[in-house]
Amino acid sequence: MHALEASSLWLRARAPAPPRVAIICGSGLGGIADRLQEPVAFDFADIPNFPSSTVAGHAGRLVFGRLGGQPTVCTQGRLHSYEGHPAWKVVFPVRVFHLLGVRILIVTNAAGAINPDYSVGDLVVIRDHVDLPGLAGNGALRGPNEPQLGPRFLCMSDAYDAALRSAALAAGKALGLGASLRRGTYAMVGGPGYETVAESRLLRSLGVDAVGMSTVPEVAAARHCGLRVLGLSLITNKAAMDYGRRDDDDDEEEGGEEGGGHRGGDEVERASHDEVLAVGEQRAATVESLVEAVLNLIT
Ligand code: HPA
Repeated sequence: MHALEASSLWLRARAPAPPRVAIICGSGLGGIADRLQEPVAFDFADIPNFPSSTVAGHAGRLVFGRLGGQPTVCTQGRLHSYEGHPAWKVVFPVRVFHLLGVRILIVTNAAGAINPDYSVGDLVVIRDHVDLPGLAGNGALRGPNEPQLGPRFLCMSDAYDAALRSAALAAGKALGLGASLRRGTYAMVGGPGYETVAESRLLRSLGVDAVGMSTVPEVAAARHCGLRVLGLSLITNKAAMDYGRRDDDDDEEEGGEEGGGHRGGDEVERASHDEVLAVGEQRAATVESLVEAVLNLIT
């Protein structure tokens, strides 16, 4: 608590206005910070106690300004649990935002499509999530509870705010996103490896639409301290749901091919970070416009 307070006091003394909205940006989606009016930025490394990534050139920064008429703070750069960071570090920014007076958290991410109807480039308004690390005992709120922040046991059945979801769907409609705007369930996996075919099939059987390696810790911490949450996924790739025609598996549906022993034919989906970043780049402006339009709607 002391570390959080020191960070928030330092920022409060320097930030232009107390932010009402915080945005945590996913891979390749940090450009939204460039849309803030009258921006004031702070490197994570300069903020007392603020955790920063050790990867050179990716330390990250906080940008304060106005977006869609709202006083806003935006992160550029994010810590992921797969880097080995403990959960308290991953969610530290969320708790500082709470102490700064933020009421609404918007989280964006890049995600793989588990739902076969989804296409690369689709945007998903997250309706619900499956916290696989959390279900296995590694949730972000594991450990001693800080009662000044929130309760030990919290309700997560309404984690994604219904009014914000409606605003996002209305904003997407107004932007002409049509059928590329979805509503769905996001699953967090630990990563950093992308899913095997069997794992993707497992996620589909659980009712998951999109999968990624982030977001859920921040959402849990935000709900813990009472923030309203909107989550948006950009579909950057389709998860591999079958082994391809050249697989040596003797599944009936895949029979008829020669060349036994050659694993992985042309049809196999292969997730890659380069593809994730490339789609992020192509669709970043749309994600940014959607977030800005939501903020305009909720004034
Ligand atoms: N799986 C997990 N995380 C991801 C993916 C994926 O397919 N795409 C982008 N982040």
